[in-house]
Amino acid sequence: MSFAGRVVIVTGASSGIGAATAVEFAKQGAKVALVGRNEANLKATETSCKAANNKVELLPIIADVTVDAERVVKETVDKLGQLDVLVNNAGIAETGHILDIEVEHFDRVLNTNLRAVFLLTKYAAPHLIKTQGSIVNVSSVAGLRSFANLSVYCTSKAALDQFTRCIALDLAPHKVRVNSVNPGVIITDIYKHMGMTKEQYAKFLEDCKATHALGRVGEAKEVADSILFLASDKSSFITGATLPIDGGRHAMCPR
Ligand code: NAI
Repeated sequence: MSFAGRVVIVTGASSGIGAATAVEFAKQGAKVALVGRNEANLKATETSCKAANNKVELLPIIADVTVDAERVVKETVDKLGQLDVLVNNAGIAETGHILDIEVEHFDRVLNTNLRAVFLLTKYAAPHLIKTQGSIVNVSSVAGLRSFANLSVYCTSKAALDQFTRCIALDLAPHKVRVNSVNPGVIITDIYKHMGMTKEQYAKFLEDCKATHALGRVGEAKEVADSILFLASDKSSFITGATLPIDGGRHAMCPR
């Protein structure tokens, strides 16, 4: 799965799945545009990428995907010459019951998880057509299955999956492939960002042994490996797919 000479954008590259994905692309020789809002955290990802491949060419872009989508694509193409792969990974999750949640919750989650992906896709598409590249969206098992107190996040990811399929059809005549990965619970800071305490998180991970068929949660690298597969020529006949990376969670049904 060599990506030598290929140019990849990874959004939300400063932590979790995005950081792990950037490192795996770096290992395979890609030039990587690292997109994130926090300069110090992006620097840490740069260091990890360089530790994986000291010759890697990196372009850190401090940006908020909800406002800077056009600049992210332009800066990448201006500085790295082309665009072969767009990984729409940046995302946020918020919990809340329909009786309590405010419209601002809905706007924040949809703006980040869906509207920003629409904008990045729109601006990246003409460049991806030139390279016959591909897009990988980071969705969730929450796009495939329903969870209480998580309606807005689930809806954003279900919409992202439908967007993936529709854009796969729009871009198929141009030989650009578009796919999603749908992770189950993966060890990252997303749960801290959602406001879980250390104790709540420990209990949640323990409960996950029963909610994932393989009896464990996943690691960011396990998602990154599938993202690279879907971005690579090894998946040349796959488009419009939503691939669960969830230890079998999507196949389970309580009884
Ligand atoms: P994370 O919270 O470590 O990473 C998300 C990254 O996106 C962070 O670096 C964050 O700063 C960035 N981000 C958020 N909003 C942004 C914005 N407006 N502009 C630029 N960057 C922004 O969490 P994780 O787990 O690595 O999440 C990555 C993706 O994986 C998300 O789309 C999430 O929904 C998805 N996912 C995660 C799962 C998990 O269990 N960790 C499960 C299923 C899906």
